[in-house]
Amino acid sequence: MQARIRHVRWEAHDILGFRLEPAAGASLPAFTAGAHVDVALAAGLARSYSLLGDPADRSGYEIAVQLDVDSRGGSRHIHEHWRPGQWVDVSAPRNNFELHEGAARSVLIAGGIGITPMLSMIARLERLGRSWELHYAVRTRERAAFLDRLEHHDAVHLTIDDEPSTPRLDLARLLAGLPPDAHVYCCGPERMLAAFRELGAPLGERLHFEYFSADTDVACDGGYRLDLRRSGRSIDVQPGETMLDALLNAGVDVGFACSEGICGSCRVTVLDGVPDHRDHFLTDAEKQSNQAVMVCCSGARSGVLALDL
Ligand code: FES
Repeated sequence: MQARIRHVRWEAHDILGFRLEPAAGASLPAFTAGAHVDVALAAGLARSYSLLGDPADRSGYEIAVQLDVDSRGGSRHIHEHWRPGQWVDVSAPRNNFELHEGAARSVLIAGGIGITPMLSMIARLERLGRSWELHYAVRTRERAAFLDRLEHHDAVHLTIDDEPSTPRLDLARLLAGLPPDAHVYCCGPERMLAAFRELGAPLGERLHFEYFSADTDVACDGGYRLDLRRSGRSIDVQPGETMLDALLNAGVDVGFACSEGICGSCRVTVLDGVPDHRDHFLTDAEKQSNQAVMVCCSGARSGVLALDL
């Protein structure tokens, strides 16, 4: 779909907010709290961003993009090229981070730009009249986006690393003290999520998380073959290539966005063989079952991987 950039707003150091609207008379698909869209950038490049607006607002989408100094072209392209009035390609919303609306209490934990999905969740929880609290940790105040929307609210607990007067975020204590009917959500940097997943493991299905970036150790040693069962083709993955590179180079159309195993766009069903899972998207159980692979970053432990392509 095409959407027009209605406005660009400076939200914090290196973070720009964008409002995207449909053409006159058209509409964009509805979304649920926690959803994201993929935006197409330069040829072959797409990125996923959480929708941060109120899901009840059908007039447009809001996203925020943090400039990544190590950007491989995604956030830098947006910061340097996206301007009001321009048309951009955006996917339909997808949700890998769904809000459990029936929970008696929702505890939201955000690190840095991980605040974005929490904003749509807060809007939804407010409409439902549900109880929630937000723990928002940032390195410095100038890097804290959307404080103007949040700071006035009693349910918001702000931790600023370089301001000792703000309370420290104690994940262990927070998770240990949750009411038994609470669901807890975390989006933040990889270290925060690793601690959250480890400390929160006993919470089982009440624990929800989403990565916004990852130091993924992408498999690109090659040396294995892909058998595409539906098309009957075989493709060798060469050293230096990812599985996704090999597929795209062979003209196989595979959807992808983040290229680092976090968005879920590139999931492919595995029919035979053993993937070398490197992503942060599939659950541990899904990885153990070897029935799917995220082709942007994962490799193969077997010489041949048969895919449903
Ligand atoms: S492209 Fe995002 S998980 Fe593979």
